Amino acid sequence: MPQIADSMLESINRDAPDIVVITGDLTENGLASEYDGAKDFIERIECENKVIVPGNHDSRNAGYLFFEDIFKARSSFGRFGEVTVVGLDSSQPELEEGHIGRENYGWIENTFSVSGFKVFALHHHLIPIPRTGRGNNVFVDAGDVLELLDRSGVHLVLCGHWHIPWVWRLNDMFVVSSGTVCSSQIRGRISQCYNLIEIEAPESECTRWHLRVCRIFSGGKKETVVDCII
Ligand SMILES: [Fe+2]
Repeated sequence: MPQIADSMLESINRDAPDIVVITGDLTENGLASEYDGAKDFIERIECENKVIVPGNHDSRNAGYLFFEDIFKARSSFGRFGEVTVVGLDSSQPELEEGHIGRENYGWIENTFSVSGFKVFALHHHLIPIPRTGRGNNVFVDAGDVLELLDRSGVHLVLCGHWHIPWVWRLNDMFVVSSGTVCSSQIRGRISQCYNLIEIEAPESECTRWHLRVCRIFSGGKKETVVDCII
């Protein structure tokens, strides 16, 4: 869908984001040619700070090797001013369902042992979302990971997978699912979209943040779904 891809790209670049988080499924089957297209698209996003994790489709056919060739680590983190983003690979080769795994819990906890606004990004869902039927949308250790993130003071969880934009609030943490930016795999009446997230630093002596989440749809419609202090 080159026209939609181009117009969404223009929209993202107009927004001039400080950080771009991409939560996986860059490809359909993890093939080299698909990765080439994804790389080209991502390079055209005008932002220095990108955190990218693979999805289940990207790990098909040993595609995770191409992911590592292009984007280096499948799990990574970035500290951008007062914002820390941890991106973790929740995919497993040739399996649709995801997991984080106990071996990663210590790294996640250590990386989040800082002050500031904390974002955790992964492909799969930590909490079920509507309109996914009986689809397996929660991974095996979701409960333990939610507890870990809550205990670590994470403010925002970003995920992808089902192409259904949705928001849940859990304690002081928002769990935000994204739609698809430019693939034809849209669900129901939802058109292509991405989440535009604005974070305002707290004033001195205050530890709370102003968080605003908007969905930007193809065609330009903008829908605010979160606007609050956390
Ligand atoms: Fe997926």
